[in-house]
Amino acid sequence: MVIRMTIKEFVAQKIQAAVPELDLNTVMGMLEIPPDKKMADYAFPCFRLAKQLRKAPALIAKDIAAALTDDGFEKVEAVGPYVNMFVNKVKAVELVTAAFTAQENFGSSDEGKGKTIVLDYSSINIAKPFHIGHLRTTVIGNSIHKLYRYLGYDTVRVNHLGDYGTQFGKLVVAYRKWGNKELVESQGIQGLLDLYVRFHAEAKENPALDDEARATFTALEHGDPEIYAIWKWFVDLSLKEVSKVYELLDVQFDSYNGESFYMDKVDGVVQALKERNLLEESDGAMIVDLSASDMPPCLVLKKDGSSLYHTRDLAAAMYRKNTYDFHKCIYVTAFDQGLHFAQFFKVLEMMGFEWSKDLIHVPYGLVSLESGKLSTRGGNVVFLKDLLDEAIAKTKQIIMEKNPELENVDEVAKQVGVGAVIFNDLFNNRIKDVTFSWNKVLNFDGETGPYVQYTFARASSILRKSGYEFNAEDIKGEQLSDEYAQDILKIIEEFPMKVKEAAERLEPYIITRYTVSLASAFNKFYHENSIMNADNEETKKARLALTKMVTVVLKQGLSLIGVQAPEKM
Ligand code: ARG
Repeated sequence: MVIRMTIKEFVAQKIQAAVPELDLNTVMGMLEIPPDKKMADYAFPCFRLAKQLRKAPALIAKDIAAALTDDGFEKVEAVGPYVNMFVNKVKAVELVTAAFTAQENFGSSDEGKGKTIVLDYSSINIAKPFHIGHLRTTVIGNSIHKLYRYLGYDTVRVNHLGDYGTQFGKLVVAYRKWGNKELVESQGIQGLLDLYVRFHAEAKENPALDDEARATFTALEHGDPEIYAIWKWFVDLSLKEVSKVYELLDVQFDSYNGESFYMDKVDGVVQALKERNLLEESDGAMIVDLSASDMPPCLVLKKDGSSLYHTRDLAAAMYRKNTYDFHKCIYVTAFDQGLHFAQFFKVLEMMGFEWSKDLIHVPYGLVSLESGKLSTRGGNVVFLKDLLDEAIAKTKQIIMEKNPELENVDEVAKQVGVGAVIFNDLFNNRIKDVTFSWNKVLNFDGETGPYVQYTFARASSILRKSGYEFNAEDIKGEQLSDEYAQDILKIIEEFPMKVKEAAERLEPYIITRYTVSLASAFNKFYHENSIMNADNEETKKARLALTKMVTVVLKQGLSLIGVQAPEKM
Protein backbone atom coordinates (compact mmCIF):
# COMPACT_ATOMS: atom_id res chain seq x y z
CA MET A 1 0.00 0.00 0.00
CA VAL A 2 1.16 3.49 -0.78
CA ILE A 3 1.20 5.65 2.27
CA ARG A 4 -0.48 8.86 1.33
CA MET A 5 0.03 11.43 3.98
CA THR A 6 -0.70 15.05 3.46
CA ILE A 7 1.14 17.91 5.11
CA LYS A 8 -1.83 18.41 7.34
CA GLU A 9 -1.84 14.76 8.37
CA PHE A 10 1.85 14.95 9.11
CA VAL A 11 1.28 17.96 11.36
CA ALA A 12 -1.72 16.29 13.00
CA GLN A 13 0.24 13.12 13.73
CA LYS A 14 2.98 15.03 15.47
CA ILE A 15 0.50 16.96 17.58
CA GLN A 16 -1.42 13.84 18.43
CA ALA A 17 1.78 12.26 19.68
CA ALA A 18 2.23 15.25 21.98
CA VAL A 19 -1.39 15.13 23.21
CA PRO A 20 -2.29 11.44 23.42
CA GLU A 21 -5.66 12.37 24.99
CA LEU A 22 -6.88 13.33 21.52
CA ASP A 23 -7.41 11.10 18.55
CA LEU A 24 -6.04 11.89 15.13
CA ASN A 25 -9.36 12.87 13.58
CA THR A 26 -10.07 15.35 16.33
CA VAL A 27 -6.68 16.94 15.82
CA MET A 28 -7.27 17.09 12.07
CA GLY A 29 -10.56 18.84 12.68
CA MET A 30 -9.01 21.34 15.06
CA LEU A 31 -6.07 22.37 12.90
CA GLU A 32 -6.44 25.77 11.32
CA ILE A 33 -4.78 27.46 8.40
CA PRO A 34 -4.20 31.08 9.46
CA PRO A 35 -5.48 33.67 7.00
CA ASP A 36 -2.05 35.29 6.90
CA LYS A 37 0.57 32.75 5.95
CA LYS A 38 3.29 34.83 7.61
CA MET A 39 1.77 33.78 10.93
CA ALA A 40 2.12 30.07 10.31
CA ASP A 41 1.37 27.25 7.88
CA TYR A 42 -0.87 25.61 10.47
CA ALA A 43 -2.16 26.70 13.82
CA PHE A 44 -3.48 24.51 16.59
CA PRO A 45 -5.86 26.21 19.07
CA CYS A 46 -5.73 24.95 22.65
CA PHE A 47 -8.82 26.53 24.28
CA ARG A 48 -10.90 23.42 24.01
CA LEU A 49 -8.28 21.36 25.80
CA ALA A 50 -8.13 23.48 28.94
CA LYS A 51 -10.90 21.63 30.71
CA GLN A 52 -9.76 18.18 29.72
CA LEU A 53 -6.11 18.77 30.63
CA ARG A 54 -6.82 21.09 33.60
CA LYS A 55 -4.28 23.54 32.35
CA ALA A 56 -4.43 27.06 30.95
CA PRO A 57 -4.58 27.10 27.12
CA ALA A 58 -1.39 29.15 26.83
CA LEU A 59 0.47 26.65 28.95
CA ILE A 60 -0.80 23.75 26.88
CA ALA A 61 0.33 25.56 23.74
CA LYS A 62 3.80 25.98 25.22
CA ASP A 63 4.09 22.32 26.15
CA ILE A 64 2.97 21.13 22.75
CA ALA A 65 5.32 23.53 21.00
CA ALA A 66 8.22 22.21 23.06
CA ALA A 67 7.35 18.63 22.11
CA LEU A 68 7.34 19.27 18.35
CA THR A 69 10.98 18.63 17.65
CA ASP A 70 10.62 16.73 14.36
CA ASP A 71 12.85 18.20 11.69
CA GLY A 72 9.81 18.30 9.39
CA PHE A 73 9.09 21.57 11.16
CA GLU A 74 11.01 24.67 10.26
CA LYS A 75 9.74 26.64 13.20
CA VAL A 76 7.23 26.08 15.99
CA GLU A 77 6.08 28.74 18.41
CA ALA A 78 3.44 29.10 21.08
CA VAL A 79 1.54 32.35 20.61
CA GLY A 80 -1.01 32.77 23.37
CA PRO A 81 -3.37 29.79 23.19
CA TYR A 82 -2.12 28.76 19.74
CA VAL A 83 0.67 26.54 18.55
CA ASN A 84 1.89 28.08 15.31
CA MET A 85 3.80 25.80 13.00
CA PHE A 86 5.87 26.27 9.89
CA VAL A 87 6.52 23.12 7.93
CA ASN A 88 9.91 22.54 6.43
CA LYS A 89 9.52 23.34 2.72
CA VAL A 90 11.44 20.37 1.48
CA LYS A 91 9.35 18.15 3.72
CA ALA A 92 6.17 19.72 2.35
CA VAL A 93 7.18 18.96 -1.20
CA GLU A 94 8.02 15.37 -0.29
CA LEU A 95 4.66 14.85 1.37
CA VAL A 96 2.56 16.21 -1.45
CA THR A 97 4.52 14.31 -4.03
CA ALA A 98 3.99 11.08 -2.13
CA ALA A 99 0.27 11.87 -1.96
CA PHE A 100 0.29 12.44 -5.65
CA THR A 101 1.32 8.96 -6.68
CA ALA A 102 -2.34 8.30 -7.35
CA GLN A 103 -2.20 10.81 -10.21
CA GLU A 104 -5.45 10.90 -12.20
CA ASN A 105 -7.34 9.47 -9.27
CA PHE A 106 -5.86 11.88 -6.78
CA GLY A 107 -8.49 12.58 -4.14
CA SER A 108 -10.69 9.65 -5.03
CA SER A 109 -11.48 6.91 -2.54
CA ASP A 110 -13.45 3.75 -2.10
CA GLU A 111 -15.23 4.81 1.06
CA GLY A 112 -18.58 4.41 -0.71
CA LYS A 113 -17.92 0.90 -1.95
CA GLY A 114 -21.09 -1.19 -1.98
CA LYS A 115 -23.32 1.77 -1.22
CA THR A 116 -25.84 3.21 -3.63
CA ILE A 117 -26.97 6.80 -3.82
CA VAL A 118 -30.18 7.52 -5.69
CA LEU A 119 -30.15 11.02 -7.10
CA ASP A 120 -33.39 12.60 -8.23
CA TYR A 121 -32.50 15.72 -10.20
CA SER A 122 -33.36 17.72 -13.28
CA SER A 123 -36.81 16.06 -13.14
CA ILE A 124 -38.28 18.34 -15.75
CA ASN A 125 -41.91 18.81 -16.58
CA ILE A 126 -43.07 17.45 -19.89
CA ALA A 127 -44.52 19.91 -22.38
CA LYS A 128 -43.05 22.79 -20.41
CA PRO A 129 -39.98 24.75 -21.41
CA PHE A 130 -36.65 23.57 -20.06
CA HIS A 131 -35.76 26.92 -18.64
CA ILE A 132 -32.94 28.39 -16.64
CA GLY A 133 -34.56 27.39 -13.32
CA HIS A 134 -34.18 23.74 -14.19
CA LEU A 135 -30.57 24.33 -15.12
CA ARG A 136 -29.71 24.53 -11.45
CA THR A 137 -31.12 21.17 -10.40
CA THR A 138 -29.50 19.63 -13.46
CA VAL A 139 -25.98 20.86 -12.87
CA ILE A 140 -26.06 20.55 -9.07
CA GLY A 141 -27.36 17.00 -9.34
CA ASN A 142 -24.78 16.10 -11.97
CA SER A 143 -21.97 17.39 -9.80
CA ILE A 144 -23.21 15.55 -6.72
CA HIS A 145 -23.30 12.40 -8.84
CA LYS A 146 -19.69 12.92 -9.92
CA LEU A 147 -18.51 13.65 -6.40
CA TYR A 148 -20.08 10.53 -4.96
CA ARG A 149 -18.85 8.36 -7.75
CA TYR A 150 -15.34 9.68 -7.13
CA LEU A 151 -15.70 8.53 -3.56
CA GLY A 152 -16.59 5.05 -4.69
CA TYR A 153 -20.38 5.11 -4.35
CA ASP A 154 -22.70 3.73 -6.97
CA THR A 155 -25.13 6.33 -8.16
CA VAL A 156 -28.50 5.96 -9.84
CA ARG A 157 -29.41 9.12 -11.71
CA VAL A 158 -33.15 9.50 -11.90
CA ASN A 159 -35.02 12.04 -13.99
CA HIS A 160 -38.36 11.98 -12.16
CA LEU A 161 -40.31 13.38 -15.09
CA GLY A 162 -43.32 15.56 -14.42
CA ASP A 163 -45.36 13.64 -16.98
CA TYR A 164 -48.59 13.16 -15.09
CA GLY A 165 -51.51 15.17 -13.75
CA THR A 166 -54.60 17.07 -14.85
CA GLN A 167 -52.55 19.44 -16.99
CA PHE A 168 -52.18 16.58 -19.45
CA GLY A 169 -55.95 16.37 -19.70
CA LYS A 170 -55.97 20.07 -20.58
CA LEU A 171 -53.24 19.65 -23.12
CA VAL A 172 -54.97 16.79 -24.89
CA VAL A 173 -58.25 18.74 -25.02
CA ALA A 174 -56.48 21.82 -26.38
CA TYR A 175 -54.63 19.74 -28.93
CA ARG A 176 -57.80 18.13 -30.20
CA LYS A 177 -59.60 21.45 -30.46
CA TRP A 178 -56.96 23.79 -31.81
CA GLY A 179 -53.87 21.86 -32.64
CA ASN A 180 -52.73 19.48 -35.30
CA LYS A 181 -49.88 17.08 -35.90
CA GLU A 182 -47.81 19.28 -38.18
CA LEU A 183 -48.04 22.26 -35.87
CA VAL A 184 -46.88 20.36 -32.83
CA GLU A 185 -44.21 18.52 -34.75
CA SER A 186 -42.73 21.71 -36.15
CA GLN A 187 -43.01 23.81 -32.99
CA GLY A 188 -42.28 21.20 -30.35
CA ILE A 189 -42.48 22.26 -26.73
CA GLN A 190 -43.22 25.84 -27.68
CA GLY A 191 -46.23 24.61 -29.65
CA LEU A 192 -47.49 22.61 -26.66
CA LEU A 193 -46.94 25.57 -24.41
CA ASP A 194 -49.01 27.78 -26.71
CA LEU A 195 -51.83 25.24 -26.64
CA TYR A 196 -51.69 25.14 -22.87
CA VAL A 197 -51.80 28.93 -22.60
CA ARG A 198 -54.72 29.06 -24.99
CA PHE A 199 -56.57 26.44 -22.95
CA HIS A 200 -56.34 28.61 -19.85
CA ALA A 201 -57.50 31.70 -21.68
CA GLU A 202 -60.49 29.91 -23.19
CA ALA A 203 -61.40 28.07 -20.00
CA LYS A 204 -61.86 31.40 -18.28
CA GLU A 205 -64.72 32.12 -20.67
CA ASN A 206 -65.91 28.56 -20.87
CA PRO A 207 -65.49 26.57 -17.61
CA ALA A 208 -66.94 23.46 -19.24
CA LEU A 209 -63.49 23.00 -20.77
CA ASP A 210 -62.12 22.25 -17.33
CA ASP A 211 -64.63 19.45 -16.87
CA GLU A 212 -63.69 18.08 -20.23
CA ALA A 213 -60.00 18.19 -19.28
CA ARG A 214 -60.67 16.38 -16.05
CA ALA A 215 -62.65 13.69 -17.82
CA THR A 216 -59.89 13.35 -20.38
CA PHE A 217 -57.27 12.89 -17.71
CA THR A 218 -59.41 10.28 -15.96
CA ALA A 219 -59.73 8.48 -19.27
CA LEU A 220 -55.94 8.61 -19.61
CA GLU A 221 -55.59 7.14 -16.14
CA HIS A 222 -57.88 4.33 -17.17
CA GLY A 223 -55.75 3.62 -20.16
CA ASP A 224 -57.85 5.02 -23.04
CA PRO A 225 -55.61 4.00 -25.95
CA GLU A 226 -56.21 7.05 -28.12
CA ILE A 227 -55.56 9.56 -25.36
CA TYR A 228 -52.62 7.52 -24.15
CA ALA A 229 -51.10 7.65 -27.62
CA ILE A 230 -51.33 11.45 -27.75
CA TRP A 231 -49.90 11.77 -24.24
CA LYS A 232 -47.06 9.39 -25.08
CA TRP A 233 -46.31 11.37 -28.20
CA PHE A 234 -46.08 14.59 -26.15
CA VAL A 235 -43.72 12.89 -23.74
CA ASP A 236 -41.45 11.53 -26.48
CA LEU A 237 -41.42 14.79 -28.32
CA SER A 238 -40.52 16.74 -25.19
CA LEU A 239 -37.77 14.29 -24.29
CA LYS A 240 -36.33 14.46 -27.77
CA GLU A 241 -36.18 18.22 -27.56
CA VAL A 242 -34.60 18.35 -24.12
CA SER A 243 -32.10 15.68 -25.01
CA LYS A 244 -30.28 18.37 -26.99
CA VAL A 245 -29.82 20.34 -23.80
CA TYR A 246 -28.63 17.28 -21.92
CA GLU A 247 -26.17 16.58 -24.69
CA LEU A 248 -24.78 20.10 -24.52
CA LEU A 249 -24.49 19.87 -20.76
CA ASP A 250 -23.07 16.35 -21.00
CA VAL A 251 -25.57 15.09 -18.46
CA GLN A 252 -26.94 11.54 -18.52
CA PHE A 253 -29.55 9.59 -16.59
CA ASP A 254 -29.97 5.97 -15.63
CA SER A 255 -33.73 6.19 -15.35
CA TYR A 256 -36.51 8.36 -16.70
CA ASN A 257 -39.15 6.84 -14.44
CA GLY A 258 -41.30 9.87 -13.84
CA GLU A 259 -44.58 10.45 -12.09
CA SER A 260 -46.62 8.40 -14.56
CA PHE A 261 -44.47 5.38 -13.80
CA TYR A 262 -46.05 5.25 -10.35
CA MET A 263 -49.61 5.31 -11.63
CA ASP A 264 -50.15 1.64 -10.83
CA LYS A 265 -48.19 1.80 -7.58
CA VAL A 266 -50.41 4.34 -5.89
CA ASP A 267 -52.91 1.74 -4.68
CA GLY A 268 -50.16 -0.01 -2.79
CA VAL A 269 -49.30 3.22 -0.98
CA VAL A 270 -52.93 3.86 -0.06
CA GLN A 271 -53.20 0.29 1.18
CA ALA A 272 -50.08 0.58 3.30
CA LEU A 273 -51.32 3.85 4.81
CA LYS A 274 -54.68 2.31 5.62
CA GLU A 275 -53.11 -0.70 7.29
CA ARG A 276 -51.26 1.64 9.60
CA ASN A 277 -54.36 3.70 10.30
CA LEU A 278 -52.73 6.84 8.99
CA LEU A 279 -55.31 7.79 6.39
CA GLU A 280 -58.14 10.16 7.32
CA GLU A 281 -60.98 11.63 5.39
CA SER A 282 -61.20 15.38 5.11
CA ASP A 283 -63.80 17.08 2.90
CA GLY A 284 -64.04 13.92 0.85
CA ALA A 285 -60.28 13.81 0.25
CA MET A 286 -57.88 11.41 1.93
CA ILE A 287 -55.08 12.91 3.98
CA VAL A 288 -52.42 12.11 6.53
CA ASP A 289 -52.65 14.45 9.47
CA LEU A 290 -49.29 16.04 10.26
CA SER A 291 -50.38 18.52 12.88
CA ALA A 292 -48.27 16.73 15.49
CA SER A 293 -45.26 17.79 13.42
CA ASP A 294 -46.58 21.31 12.86
CA MET A 295 -47.16 20.78 9.18
CA PRO A 296 -50.25 21.02 7.02
CA PRO A 297 -51.77 17.64 6.13
CA CYS A 298 -50.30 15.54 3.35
CA LEU A 299 -52.91 15.11 0.63
CA VAL A 300 -52.94 11.52 -0.63
CA LEU A 301 -56.10 11.24 -2.70
CA LYS A 302 -58.35 13.91 -4.14
CA LYS A 303 -62.13 13.82 -3.80
CA ASP A 304 -62.39 12.05 -7.12
CA GLY A 305 -59.92 9.43 -6.00
CA SER A 306 -57.01 10.61 -8.14
CA SER A 307 -53.48 10.73 -6.80
CA LEU A 308 -51.31 13.79 -6.16
CA TYR A 309 -47.68 14.83 -6.43
CA HIS A 310 -47.23 13.67 -2.82
CA THR A 311 -48.78 10.28 -3.46
CA ARG A 312 -46.50 9.62 -6.38
CA ASP A 313 -43.48 10.67 -4.37
CA LEU A 314 -44.45 8.28 -1.58
CA ALA A 315 -44.73 5.51 -4.15
CA ALA A 316 -41.43 6.52 -5.76
CA ALA A 317 -39.51 6.48 -2.47
CA MET A 318 -40.83 3.02 -1.60
CA TYR A 319 -40.09 1.75 -5.08
CA ARG A 320 -36.54 3.11 -4.97
CA LYS A 321 -35.85 1.56 -1.60
CA ASN A 322 -37.06 -1.81 -2.89
CA THR A 323 -35.28 -1.56 -6.20
CA TYR A 324 -31.96 0.02 -5.29
CA ASP A 325 -31.73 -0.44 -1.53
CA PHE A 326 -30.20 3.01 -1.38
CA HIS A 327 -27.83 4.29 1.24
CA LYS A 328 -29.20 7.78 0.59
CA CYS A 329 -31.84 9.12 -1.73
CA ILE A 330 -31.21 12.73 -2.65
CA TYR A 331 -33.71 15.14 -4.22
CA VAL A 332 -32.47 18.33 -5.83
CA THR A 333 -35.15 21.00 -6.27
CA ALA A 334 -35.72 24.69 -5.64
CA PHE A 335 -36.09 25.55 -1.96
CA ASP A 336 -39.78 26.39 -2.36
CA GLN A 337 -40.55 22.66 -2.44
CA GLY A 338 -39.10 22.25 1.04
CA LEU A 339 -42.45 21.68 2.70
CA HIS A 340 -43.47 19.09 0.12
CA PHE A 341 -40.41 16.99 0.93
CA ALA A 342 -40.62 17.50 4.68
CA GLN A 343 -44.24 16.29 4.53
CA PHE A 344 -43.75 13.08 2.63
CA PHE A 345 -40.51 12.25 4.45
CA LYS A 346 -42.54 12.53 7.66
CA VAL A 347 -45.32 10.31 6.34
CA LEU A 348 -42.77 7.61 5.50
CA GLU A 349 -41.33 7.91 8.97
CA MET A 350 -44.83 7.53 10.45
CA MET A 351 -45.28 4.44 8.30
CA GLY A 352 -42.40 2.95 10.22
CA PHE A 353 -39.81 3.04 7.46
CA GLU A 354 -36.58 3.40 9.31
CA TRP A 355 -34.88 4.41 6.03
CA SER A 356 -36.91 7.62 5.82
CA LYS A 357 -33.96 9.23 7.59
CA ASP A 358 -31.89 8.54 4.47
CA LEU A 359 -34.03 10.80 2.30
CA ILE A 360 -32.45 14.18 1.75
CA HIS A 361 -33.84 17.27 0.12
CA VAL A 362 -31.15 19.45 -1.41
CA PRO A 363 -32.66 22.89 -1.98
CA TYR A 364 -31.28 25.74 -4.03
CA GLY A 365 -32.04 29.43 -4.59
CA LEU A 366 -33.56 31.15 -7.57
CA VAL A 367 -31.92 32.33 -10.77
CA SER A 368 -32.85 35.64 -12.20
CA LEU A 369 -31.74 37.20 -15.40
CA GLU A 370 -30.20 40.58 -15.76
CA SER A 371 -33.18 42.03 -17.58
CA GLY A 372 -33.22 42.69 -21.27
CA LYS A 373 -29.91 41.00 -21.94
CA LEU A 374 -31.20 37.67 -23.10
CA SER A 375 -33.10 36.79 -26.18
CA THR A 376 -36.38 35.07 -25.60
CA ARG A 377 -38.65 33.24 -27.97
CA GLY A 378 -41.58 35.49 -27.17
CA GLY A 379 -43.08 35.52 -23.69
CA ASN A 380 -40.65 35.84 -20.83
CA VAL A 381 -39.40 32.29 -20.46
CA VAL A 382 -35.84 31.79 -21.54
CA PHE A 383 -35.36 28.41 -23.10
CA LEU A 384 -32.17 26.92 -21.81
CA LYS A 385 -31.23 25.74 -25.26
CA ASP A 386 -31.26 29.35 -26.50
CA LEU A 387 -29.22 30.49 -23.54
CA LEU A 388 -26.57 27.83 -24.13
CA ASP A 389 -26.47 28.52 -27.86
CA GLU A 390 -25.94 32.18 -27.12
CA ALA A 391 -23.16 31.37 -24.65
CA ILE A 392 -21.45 29.28 -27.31
CA ALA A 393 -21.79 31.98 -29.97
CA LYS A 394 -20.46 34.70 -27.69
CA THR A 395 -17.57 32.50 -26.61
CA LYS A 396 -16.70 31.73 -30.18
CA GLN A 397 -16.43 35.43 -30.87
CA ILE A 398 -14.11 35.99 -27.91
CA ILE A 399 -11.91 33.03 -28.84
CA MET A 400 -11.62 34.14 -32.45
CA GLU A 401 -10.34 37.50 -31.28
CA LYS A 402 -7.88 35.98 -28.81
CA ASN A 403 -6.68 33.08 -30.87
CA PRO A 404 -7.75 33.22 -34.52
CA GLU A 405 -5.51 30.25 -35.37
CA LEU A 406 -7.24 27.78 -33.07
CA GLU A 407 -8.40 24.52 -34.64
CA ASN A 408 -11.78 23.06 -33.59
CA VAL A 409 -13.08 26.49 -32.64
CA ASP A 410 -16.61 25.21 -32.55
CA GLU A 411 -15.85 22.33 -30.24
CA VAL A 412 -13.81 24.55 -27.91
CA ALA A 413 -16.47 27.28 -27.96
CA LYS A 414 -18.97 24.67 -26.89
CA GLN A 415 -16.81 23.41 -24.03
CA VAL A 416 -16.03 26.92 -22.84
CA GLY A 417 -19.44 28.52 -23.42
CA VAL A 418 -21.40 25.75 -21.75
CA GLY A 419 -18.72 25.37 -19.07
CA ALA A 420 -19.02 29.07 -18.28
CA VAL A 421 -22.75 28.77 -17.66
CA ILE A 422 -22.36 25.69 -15.46
CA PHE A 423 -19.47 27.21 -13.55
CA ASN A 424 -21.44 30.38 -12.83
CA ASP A 425 -24.33 28.32 -11.54
CA LEU A 426 -22.10 26.36 -9.20
CA PHE A 427 -20.00 29.23 -7.94
CA ASN A 428 -21.96 30.00 -4.78
CA ASN A 429 -23.57 28.23 -1.97
CA ARG A 430 -26.61 26.43 -3.42
CA ILE A 431 -29.17 28.37 -1.45
CA LYS A 432 -27.92 31.72 -2.64
CA ASP A 433 -29.89 33.31 -5.46
CA VAL A 434 -28.03 33.63 -8.74
CA THR A 435 -28.19 36.56 -11.12
CA PHE A 436 -27.20 35.68 -14.59
CA SER A 437 -25.12 38.30 -16.35
CA TRP A 438 -23.18 37.69 -19.52
CA ASN A 439 -20.36 40.00 -18.52
CA LYS A 440 -19.76 38.06 -15.38
CA VAL A 441 -20.23 34.59 -16.85
CA LEU A 442 -17.90 35.02 -19.80
CA ASN A 443 -15.21 37.17 -18.23
CA PHE A 444 -11.89 35.45 -18.99
CA ASP A 445 -10.16 37.25 -16.12
CA GLY A 446 -12.72 36.89 -13.38
CA GLU A 447 -13.55 34.01 -11.09
CA THR A 448 -15.10 32.15 -13.97
CA GLY A 449 -15.06 28.92 -15.90
CA PRO A 450 -13.20 30.45 -18.85
CA TYR A 451 -10.52 31.74 -16.48
CA VAL A 452 -9.90 28.31 -15.00
CA GLN A 453 -10.10 26.59 -18.37
CA TYR A 454 -7.71 29.14 -19.83
CA THR A 455 -5.25 28.49 -17.06
CA PHE A 456 -5.51 24.77 -17.69
CA ALA A 457 -4.92 25.31 -21.41
CA ARG A 458 -1.91 27.53 -20.70
CA ALA A 459 -0.36 24.94 -18.38
CA SER A 460 -1.09 22.19 -20.89
CA SER A 461 0.57 24.19 -23.61
CA ILE A 462 3.72 24.63 -21.52
CA LEU A 463 3.86 20.88 -21.00
CA ARG A 464 3.18 20.18 -24.64
CA LYS A 465 5.87 22.55 -25.86
CA SER A 466 8.44 21.19 -23.45
CA GLY A 467 7.69 17.58 -24.35
CA TYR A 468 7.95 16.86 -20.65
CA GLU A 469 7.05 13.42 -19.28
CA PHE A 470 6.02 13.42 -15.64
CA ASN A 471 8.36 11.75 -13.22
CA ALA A 472 7.69 12.04 -9.51
CA GLU A 473 11.42 12.05 -8.85
CA ASP A 474 11.74 15.38 -10.59
CA ILE A 475 9.89 17.02 -7.74
CA LYS A 476 12.74 18.07 -5.53
CA GLY A 477 12.03 20.06 -2.44
CA GLU A 478 14.99 22.38 -2.92
CA GLN A 479 13.69 23.42 -6.31
CA LEU A 480 10.18 24.18 -5.18
CA SER A 481 10.68 26.01 -1.93
CA ASP A 482 9.74 29.43 -3.28
CA GLU A 483 6.59 31.01 -1.94
CA TYR A 484 4.57 30.47 -5.11
CA ALA A 485 5.39 26.81 -5.55
CA GLN A 486 4.68 26.22 -1.89
CA ASP A 487 1.28 27.87 -2.23
CA ILE A 488 0.40 25.58 -5.08
CA LEU A 489 1.48 22.52 -3.14
CA LYS A 490 -0.62 23.50 -0.19
CA ILE A 491 -3.67 23.91 -2.39
CA ILE A 492 -3.06 20.63 -4.18
CA GLU A 493 -2.86 18.75 -0.94
CA GLU A 494 -6.23 20.15 0.09
CA PHE A 495 -7.98 18.57 -2.87
CA PRO A 496 -8.97 15.23 -1.31
CA MET A 497 -10.43 17.02 1.70
CA LYS A 498 -12.34 19.42 -0.51
CA VAL A 499 -13.84 16.54 -2.47
CA LYS A 500 -15.04 14.93 0.74
CA GLU A 501 -16.38 18.16 2.12
CA ALA A 502 -18.24 18.99 -1.09
CA ALA A 503 -19.84 15.54 -1.12
CA GLU A 504 -20.76 15.57 2.55
CA ARG A 505 -22.25 19.03 2.42
CA LEU A 506 -23.73 18.43 -1.05
CA GLU A 507 -22.12 21.70 -2.11
CA PRO A 508 -20.39 21.69 -5.49
CA TYR A 509 -19.32 25.30 -5.03
CA ILE A 510 -16.53 24.08 -2.74
CA ILE A 511 -14.91 22.49 -5.80
CA THR A 512 -15.74 25.42 -8.08
CA ARG A 513 -13.98 27.85 -5.76
CA TYR A 514 -11.16 25.43 -5.26
CA THR A 515 -10.37 25.38 -8.97
CA VAL A 516 -10.25 29.18 -8.97
CA SER A 517 -7.77 29.26 -6.10
CA LEU A 518 -5.55 26.64 -7.72
CA ALA A 519 -5.69 28.43 -11.07
CA SER A 520 -4.77 31.75 -9.56
CA ALA A 521 -1.94 30.23 -7.52
CA PHE A 522 -0.57 28.72 -10.70
CA ASN A 523 -0.86 32.00 -12.58
CA LYS A 524 1.14 33.76 -9.86
CA PHE A 525 3.76 31.05 -9.92
CA TYR A 526 3.98 31.23 -13.68
CA HIS A 527 4.25 34.98 -13.57
CA GLU A 528 7.02 34.97 -10.96
CA ASN A 529 9.06 32.01 -12.13
CA SER A 530 10.24 31.23 -15.54
CA ILE A 531 9.56 27.61 -16.26
CA MET A 532 11.23 27.02 -19.61
CA ASN A 533 14.14 29.36 -18.89
CA ALA A 534 14.78 28.20 -15.37
CA ASP A 535 18.36 28.55 -14.12
CA ASN A 536 19.13 24.91 -14.45
CA GLU A 537 17.71 21.66 -15.72
CA GLU A 538 16.72 20.39 -12.29
CA THR A 539 14.69 23.46 -11.48
CA LYS A 540 13.05 23.34 -14.86
CA LYS A 541 12.06 19.72 -14.42
CA ALA A 542 10.72 20.34 -10.94
CA ARG A 543 8.63 23.24 -12.18
CA LEU A 544 7.33 21.22 -15.11
CA ALA A 545 6.40 18.40 -12.77
CA LEU A 546 4.53 20.87 -10.60
CA THR A 547 2.78 22.23 -13.69
CA LYS A 548 1.75 18.71 -14.56
CA MET A 549 0.28 18.22 -11.11
CA VAL A 550 -1.68 21.44 -11.50
CA THR A 551 -3.17 20.29 -14.81
CA VAL A 552 -4.20 16.95 -13.37
CA VAL A 553 -5.94 18.47 -10.37
CA LEU A 554 -7.56 21.29 -12.36
CA LYS A 555 -8.94 18.87 -14.88
CA GLN A 556 -10.27 16.58 -12.19
CA GLY A 557 -11.77 19.48 -10.26
CA LEU A 558 -13.54 20.80 -13.34
CA SER A 559 -14.77 17.36 -14.20
CA LEU A 560 -16.33 17.02 -10.74
CA ILE A 561 -18.51 20.03 -11.45
CA GLY A 562 -19.30 18.82 -14.96
CA VAL A 563 -17.06 21.26 -16.83
CA GLN A 564 -14.68 20.14 -19.55
CA ALA A 565 -11.06 21.13 -19.88
CA PRO A 566 -9.91 21.78 -23.45
CA GLU A 567 -6.14 21.51 -23.91
CA LYS A 568 -6.03 24.43 -26.30
CA MET A 569 -8.14 27.53 -26.39
N1 ARG B 1 -40.95 18.05 -11.66
C1 ARG B 1 -40.79 18.79 -10.45
C2 ARG B 1 -40.59 20.27 -10.77
O1 ARG B 1 -40.18 20.61 -11.83
C3 ARG B 1 -39.59 18.34 -9.66
C4 ARG B 1 -39.63 16.91 -9.21
C5 ARG B 1 -38.62 16.65 -8.15
N2 ARG B 1 -38.58 15.28 -7.74
C6 ARG B 1 -39.52 14.67 -6.97
N3 ARG B 1 -39.37 13.41 -6.73
N4 ARG B 1 -40.52 15.34 -6.47
O2 ARG B 1 -40.86 21.10 -9.95
